Amino acid sequence: LGLKESIVSDLADLREVRQRIEAAYDPELLRVLGRRLADMAADHLAKSQASDGVVLPWCDPAEGVRQAAAVLDEAVGANVGRDELTNRFAALLKTMLSRGLNLHDPRYIGHQVAASVPLAGLFDAVGSITNQVMATYDMGPWATATERAMVEQLGEQIGWHRGEFSGVVTHGGSLANLTGLLVARNVALADSWEKGTARPGSPPVLVVHADTHYSVARSAGILGLGTGHVVRVGLDSRRRMDVGQLESALRDLRANGQPVVAVVACACSTPIGAFDPLEEVADVCQRYGVWLHVDAAHGGAACLSPTHRHLVAGLHRADSIAWDAHKMLFMPGLCAFAFYRNRAHKFEAFRQDAPYLFDPAAPGLAEYDSAMGTLECTKRAAAFGLWGTWAMFGPQLFADLVDVTFAMGRVLYEKLLAAPDFAALHEPECNIVVFRHVPAALRDSASAALGQFQLEIRRRVLESGEFHIVSTRLDGVGALRVTIINPLTRPEHLDRLLDAIREAGCRILQDTDTTLSSA
Ligand SMILES: Cc1ncc(COP(=O)(O)O)c(C=O)c1O
Repeated sequence: LGLKESIVSDLADLREVRQRIEAAYDPELLRVLGRRLADMAADHLAKSQASDGVVLPWCDPAEGVRQAAAVLDEAVGANVGRDELTNRFAALLKTMLSRGLNLHDPRYIGHQVAASVPLAGLFDAVGSITNQVMATYDMGPWATATERAMVEQLGEQIGWHRGEFSGVVTHGGSLANLTGLLVARNVALADSWEKGTARPGSPPVLVVHADTHYSVARSAGILGLGTGHVVRVGLDSRRRMDVGQLESALRDLRANGQPVVAVVACACSTPIGAFDPLEEVADVCQRYGVWLHVDAAHGGAACLSPTHRHLVAGLHRADSIAWDAHKMLFMPGLCAFAFYRNRAHKFEAFRQDAPYLFDPAAPGLAEYDSAMGTLECTKRAAAFGLWGTWAMFGPQLFADLVDVTFAMGRVLYEKLLAAPDFAALHEPECNIVVFRHVPAALRDSASAALGQFQLEIRRRVLESGEFHIVSTRLDGVGALRVTIINPLTRPEHLDRLLDAIREAGCRILQDTDTTLSSA
C-alpha cells in the first residue's frame, strides 16, 4: 500500500488494541451478562422486598472508598475468556448489590428518594446501553420524543392545555428550580442575561416560603441576586406560606421600589410536607404582577390522584413549576421537570447562540433541541423510565403510588397519637411525618436535650441497619423524620419502627446512666 514501515508496525500494534476493545464491545458478552444481571437483580429485589437482610449495610465511608479502590486493582483485563469475564462481572455485581442502600426493603422510609418501580430501570438501561442522549434533536430523536410526550402528559395533569405550555427534563429538582428561577429572573430583569443583575436602586429580591428547599436560596446565589436578598415569608400554624404575610411583604417591597424576581411557593415543603394554599398565593402574585414559581418537586404527583388532587389546587396558575419524577412518580434517579405555563418562556432561560449545535437552516427544529432550554448540553435520556412505565401501566399506577404512601403517612400519624411516648409534631398532609420519641424519663427535659436524643436515636437506628429514617431540626430542635416513599411499607412495619426507636432510646438512656455512674 506504500505505507511507511513505522505506520505498518503501528497498525500491527493496533490489531491487538482492537482485539482488546472488541472483547469489551462484544454483543454476545452483553447477552450473557445481561441475563446474569436480570437474575441477580431480581433475586436481590425479592430479598429486599422480603426484608431479608439489613436496609443499609452501614460502612465507615473511608473504609468503603478503600474497598472500592481495592476492587479496581483486581481488574482481569480483556484477554481472558468470556467465562472469566462473566465470573468477574457476577462478583462485581454481588458486591454492588450487597453494599448499597436497599430502597425496596419496606423498612426504607428515609430520604425523598423513591423505592422506584424496578422495571423503569430496564427502560433506563436501554438508554445507557445504546447511549441515547440529547442536546439537539438529531442526537436523540426518541429520547427527545419521549421527554416531550411526558412533558405533554404531565402538563395536562397540572391542568394546562396542550400547545400552550412547555417544559424540559433536568437532572434533578434543584436544577429544575434553578432553571425556572433563571427564566423568572430573565423576565423580571429584562437585560440581566446580557448585562448582569447590577442596577441602580434597590436590589431585586426573591420572595420565598420560609421552609423552602435550600436549592432555592442557592439559586439566588447562582443567579447573581445574592442569598442575602432572599425574603422569607412567615408560616401559618400548619407551616404553610402565610398569605397575609406574603401580601404585606410584596406591599412593602413595592413601596421601597424593590423589584421582585419571583415568589416561590411549596407543594409541598421539605421539612413536614406542607402544601401552600396555591390559589390564594396565585391571587396575591397576580395582584402584584409577580412571577409565581412552585417547587412541586415532592408533591406535584398529588395531581394524579383524584383523592389528593385538592392539595395542589391552583398549581396550574404557576408561571413555572419544578416536579421530580424520582420522588413521587417513583422513578429511578434522576428525572425532574421544569414546566412553564407560557410555552414561550422555555426559551427565555438561555439566550445563547451555539451555531455548531443549533441549525439555522432548520429553525423549526430548535423547538426540539433540548439544550435550548436546559443547563446541560449533552443530557441523558432521563425520561425513558417514566415514559416506559407510563406506557405499560398508565396513569392509574402513579395515582395508586401516591394514594398508598400518603395513606401510610396518616397511619403513622394515628399510631403516634395513640402512643404516649411519642409526639407527632404536625398533622401530615402527605407521606412526610415528623415526630419525637419522648420516653417518660425525658418528659421534663429541656428541648435541646430532647432534640439531641432524637439525633442519637436516628444514628443508632440507621447504623443498626433495621430501618432507614432521617432526622431534622424543626424550629432548631432535633426531630425524627420519615418519608414513606416506599409503596411496600405496611402498617406492621410502622409498628416495628416505633419499637425499634423505643429500643434505641432505651439503650441511649442506659449508656448515659452508665457513663454518669462511672464518672
Ligand atoms: C421541595 C424540594 N425541592 C427540591 C428538592 C431537590 O430535589 P433534587 O434532590 O432532585 O435536586 C427537594 C429534595 O428533597 C425538595 O424536597
